[in-house]
Amino acid sequence: MKIISTKKDLIHSLKPIWNGPDKTGFVPTMGALHKGHLSLISRAIQENPYVLVSIFVNPTQFNDKNDLKNYPRKKSKDLKVLKGLLRQQDIVFIPDEAEMYPEPDIRNFDFGHLDKIMEGANRPGHFNGVAQIISKLFDLIKADFAYFGEKDLQQLVIIKKLTEITGSNTTVVGCPIVREEDGLAMSSRNQLLGKKERKEAAKISLTLFEAARLIKRLDPIKLKENIINRINSSPELKVEYFDIVDGYELKPVLSWDSSPLIFGCIAVKTGSIRLLDNYRLVDKQDQYLNPNT
Ligand code: PAJ
Repeated sequence: MKIISTKKDLIHSLKPIWNGPDKTGFVPTMGALHKGHLSLISRAIQENPYVLVSIFVNPTQFNDKNDLKNYPRKKSKDLKVLKGLLRQQDIVFIPDEAEMYPEPDIRNFDFGHLDKIMEGANRPGHFNGVAQIISKLFDLIKADFAYFGEKDLQQLVIIKKLTEITGSNTTVVGCPIVREEDGLAMSSRNQLLGKKERKEAAKISLTLFEAARLIKRLDPIKLKENIINRINSSPELKVEYFDIVDGYELKPVLSWDSSPLIFGCIAVKTGSIRLLDNYRLVDKQDQYLNPNT
């Protein structure tokens, strides 16, 4: 694999690939790589002759200075892991802040209601910062495909919208959530959890799995109340939101038959750490696309 840290060198390496027939897959990350990231990278490798992975802790998406300061940075460990996974022709792009933001980015993106709810309501400016860095990287890399985790469902939906707004030719591919053995969604932030908090955090996903079983008995409003109470009953956990939304527009749903794809999306605070998770409560997409199967 090649390790590149400047836009100039990156363009130099990408030019012959752009001029050739081969597809490129791009996986943007903030490093501290875990199996969730690696699943995206493996899929990109399977589907593209050239893969580019970026590692950049993007300051403009952190609305909390302490969160940015404490975000795990594991450059040499990440590079070692990538060396074992990527092929000779693949690229790791690790720019510094001055390279990505030579001057302040003052662009404001309009995502309508998509960035006003859930993470958007709780982290003002977060998705605008994500959109700033992703639009810069998409413009620079011009990949055919870019891979994002469903773990950050709202981010995935917003990036799809971003490509519509900017007219980008990169196709956004959503990938399933990778979980720890006890169900906790893998996250770079999990390593910041204390022992007690880590153990209790498993309750978040287990309660979401239970929620999918409860839809037979409870309507969305009752289910929402039930799930929030269950998780808040643990003294270590505090629900910031639990919203039940359709998988396309992230609109709140009031009945289980209002969309073929419905997610329960949750953010929970444990100590000073925020954990995100979501789960498909209704998934009838196949039936919807082909009612005869
Ligand atoms: P980061 O949190 O490093 O995540 C990089 C990608 O890995 C995202 O698409 C995220 O959804 C995916 N991911 C994280 N945990 C996952 C899991 N358990 N299973 C599957 N995929 C998982 O998301 C960001 O970085 C940044 O906002 C970024 C898009 C890089 C922009 O700065």
